[in-house]
Amino acid sequence: MAGRLTDRIAIVTGASRGIGRAVGVALGSEGATVVLSGRVEAELVQTASLVREAGGRAEVIPAELADERAIKDLVAKTSERFGRLDILVNNAGITHSAPLEQTRTEDLDRCWAVNARAPFLLCREALPLLRQAERATIVNISSVVGVKGYPLQSAYTASKHALRGMSIALAEELRGSNVRVHVLCPGGVDTEMVSRVRPDIDKGDLIGPGEIAELVLYLVTHRGNAVVDELHIRRATASPWFG
Ligand SMILES: NC(=O)c1ccc[n+]([C@@H]2O[C@H](COP(=O)([O-])OP(=O)(O)OC[C@H]3O[C@@H](n4cnc5c(N)ncnc54)[C@H](OP(=O)(O)O)[C@@H]3O)[C@@H](O)[C@H]2O)c1
Repeated sequence: MAGRLTDRIAIVTGASRGIGRAVGVALGSEGATVVLSGRVEAELVQTASLVREAGGRAEVIPAELADERAIKDLVAKTSERFGRLDILVNNAGITHSAPLEQTRTEDLDRCWAVNARAPFLLCREALPLLRQAERATIVNISSVVGVKGYPLQSAYTASKHALRGMSIALAEELRGSNVRVHVLCPGGVDTEMVSRVRPDIDKGDLIGPGEIAELVLYLVTHRGNAVVDELHIRRATASPWFG
């Protein structure tokens, strides 16, 4: 039986592990062709195997997203190889934990480059292709820190607020077009990132990467009159509404 995303082409950044890998596999399970990007090719190749096992097609295109040329190359290669793009999931991200007074300019710049500038540039470069699709979706993975602020995470928080703000502006620009823009704001998800940054959270309480992937799947497959702009996803044990 054909999946709901058969013949659809998706780019997923940060697909070498964690949430990005789960999103790639979920899109593959509906028959999508998933362009998997990240820096570590060997890990992307592992994700590609999982996407194929799930029933999808996979293409590995490594890219350092702090590099504008690599971003342009990623979109150009996708265009050359497939001639279309239906889904862009801006998932790649990094954290930095330090008091603001001890945050070095290079750490701030790095957070900015990967978490905010790269998705901005990817949206810009991908839009000509996305506009050609019958219906296209951009999903930007922000964070609970995209709507709140936590101590020791000022650089990360600033970049995730920026990503969310850019997404709101772009959604308005694209209103009425074939391209929808969504933002996901997850709390703690069970990945390498959270093990490093929040070792205090009980692993058993963390959200599964597959749970986030299910929500992405909903956003890219649902095309009724109802639109979900943004999802706040918290751990079941955390305060409602990120309180
Ligand atoms: N885990 C959480 O609790 C949580 C909560 C809210 C939001 N998020 C967000 O969800 C997204 C995924 O996070 P995760 O938890 O899955 O993190 P993760 O396990 O650390 O994975 C991060 C991904 O981003 C890629 N990446 C990092 N720097 C890159 C760069 N310069 N160029 C290209 N790719 C790069 C990594 O690939 P390579 O190392 O191969 O480059 C990896 O695939 C991030 O945007 C994160 O901020 C996570």
